[in-house]
Amino acid sequence: MPDTPPNELLDGLLAALAASPANPALATLVVDACLNTPDAAALGRALDLSGPALLADPARRDAALALLLRQGDDERVLLVAAPDSAAALFARARLRLGDGAREEARSLYQQAVALNPALEDAALASELSGKVISLAAARRPGAGAQTSIANDDTDAQDVVRLLQPAQARIGFAEVGGLDEVKQQIRRRIVTPFLKPSLFERFKRRSGGGILLYGPPGCGKTLLARATAGECGARFFNVAITDVLDMYIGESERKLHAIFETARKQAPAVVFFDEVEAIGGKRQYSRESASAKLVSQFLTELDGFAQNNSGVLILGATNVPWAVDAAFRRPGRFDRVLFVPPPDEPARRAILELQLRERPCADDIDVGELARLTSGFSGADLGHLVETAIDEAIEASIEQGREAPLTMAHLRAALKDTRATTLEWLTTARNHARYANQGGQYDEVLEFLKRHGAG
Ligand SMILES: Nc1ncnc2c1ncn2[C@@H]1O[C@H](COP(=O)(O)OP(=O)(O)O)[C@@H](O)[C@H]1O
Ligand SMILES: [Mg+2]
Repeated sequence: MPDTPPNELLDGLLAALAASPANPALATLVVDACLNTPDAAALGRALDLSGPALLADPARRDAALALLLRQGDDERVLLVAAPDSAAALFARARLRLGDGAREEARSLYQQAVALNPALEDAALASELSGKVISLAAARRPGAGAQTSIANDDTDAQDVVRLLQPAQARIGFAEVGGLDEVKQQIRRRIVTPFLKPSLFERFKRRSGGGILLYGPPGCGKTLLARATAGECGARFFNVAITDVLDMYIGESERKLHAIFETARKQAPAVVFFDEVEAIGGKRQYSRESASAKLVSQFLTELDGFAQNNSGVLILGATNVPWAVDAAFRRPGRFDRVLFVPPPDEPARRAILELQLRERPCADDIDVGELARLTSGFSGADLGHLVETAIDEAIEASIEQGREAPLTMAHLRAALKDTRATTLEWLTTARNHARYANQGGQYDEVLEFLKRHGAG
């Protein structure tokens, strides 16, 4: 008898099955032929003809399920396997992954492997943990939202990444002291920003950026945020060091994208903190920004000077003497404001801000604390209060009930907190005395004279 080629034999058997799909003897013949070949496609067709009854015999059913799983025929596995069997869980894991439900898929896979360790599949496991691009998702047409790990290099996303996370909107009320600076900002920034047509009528130029300078921790960043709040504008806080960390040539592109985003979302305030990092004189820079980046930055600033498009540029620096003079030219950071260390009333105001909404004992004398903290920056005062608060929390734990913050906690904390503004003022005094071109540090000299340190 001549050997019949397997596919012909199977074709004949399938034709017979189509004629009598409910014949159990024939079903057994077909299944055995499919498993021996093995031929998963033929098995699939047989299943379509006879339904799950095709695999009534448990041993054949298990072998058939293994073949279908190997083939990736998950739909037919579900047709045959008991709902909570390992094979069904495994098939559902793959299908859910294809739908993009990775978490659910991972849990199903783990259940399947727990029931039947032989189903372990390293490739699927790594796909489930998100280490590779999902082949299952790519294979299935019409699958739900897919997260592609393709080269998605849009500027908008970069911009979001380079900006610091959004914070609650604040106004001048949240900034203690600094009344003169606030008044200046109101007159020179907020009003022109809110009433541009008035300025147009008087032909008063309102473009150009504002540079805030002063000792660290005295509220420059806080003031910039509050200014945005007062203007009712969106606030973009640009982390310059992150822009600088980009690949060579990338920085310029990212910088441009930041300015573009701000223009599109006007009214907006774009705040460049630590501006010396980008416009630093060479002798001061840790890493000098490329000349191209500096010129890109100046070009963007000049663009804003010509077309006041509802975007306000603010900069801040602790080291104004390190900022290149090119940044101070008209239309760039042409208005410079000194943010001084807080004087006694300002320290009082800052302490009150920091103590509000905290459980405080009646004996706390904020006026006394303000007198005792000469030379403290706002950040130093914050540190003082935090240290005292730690004491109060510890006391509360010891006593098993809320022990409010007391003057004793604050006095103890005072011993551990140092004033940090004096060092800055000493350096600034030297620059103000010997390099005060254009009177740029007059405000510093004025401050020192007023506080008897000139
Ligand atoms: N004038 C102020 N009013 C209220 N809090 C202040 C003030 N100055 C500083 N602080 C506190 O110190 C922190 C640091 O201030 P920040 O604005 O970042 O200082 P700078 O930018 O000048 O280095 C602020 O988050 C705030 O808690
Ligand atoms: Mg700051």
